[in-house]
Amino acid sequence: MKELNINLKIQFCDLNELPKEDLELVETAKEMTLSSYAPYSRFQVGAALRLADGRVFRGSNQENAVFPVGLCAERTAFFAAQANAPEQPPVCIAIAAQTAGRFTEHPVTPCGSCRQALLEAEVRYDQPIRVLLFGTEGVYIVPSVKSLLPLTFDGSELA
Ligand code: THU
Repeated sequence: MKELNINLKIQFCDLNELPKEDLELVETAKEMTLSSYAPYSRFQVGAALRLADGRVFRGSNQENAVFPVGLCAERTAFFAAQANAPEQPPVCIAIAAQTAGRFTEHPVTPCGSCRQALLEAEVRYDQPIRVLLFGTEGVYIVPSVKSLLPLTFDGSELA
């Protein structure tokens, strides 16, 4: 039997150690938690997505009484970016979340559906999207969405 090893290297640092552009993106994601509509989970998520031309699209989770109708912060930002600037590759996304008035201690991570949606942009533009995950204990810096979603289904097998 052979073995396949999948490695993921994540950098971890304090918020104030981030380069200026990254810090701004994380601060925007933190701010965006305030526009979340999350009366059901009370988990308020904010996202900020930077495009190659420097534009930043913002999102927050939007819930609904029919639960599956709601959308995560990451996809809210990502779909807005794709709809308004389809020619621009996304290069970085920052995510933050708060609950009961406090930001999460552990860095918040995107759900599987958001990983899948963002992965498609990495494939489409052939460019990695860095992922900045904020928690009060520090920030994870992930080099790409693909690294968070190994053994991906990227549609390349579709006829
Ligand atoms: N949520 C996000 O917006 N992003 C994540 O990365 C995790 C989960 C939202 C979906 C739902 O509105 C609430 O958080 C609880 O799952």
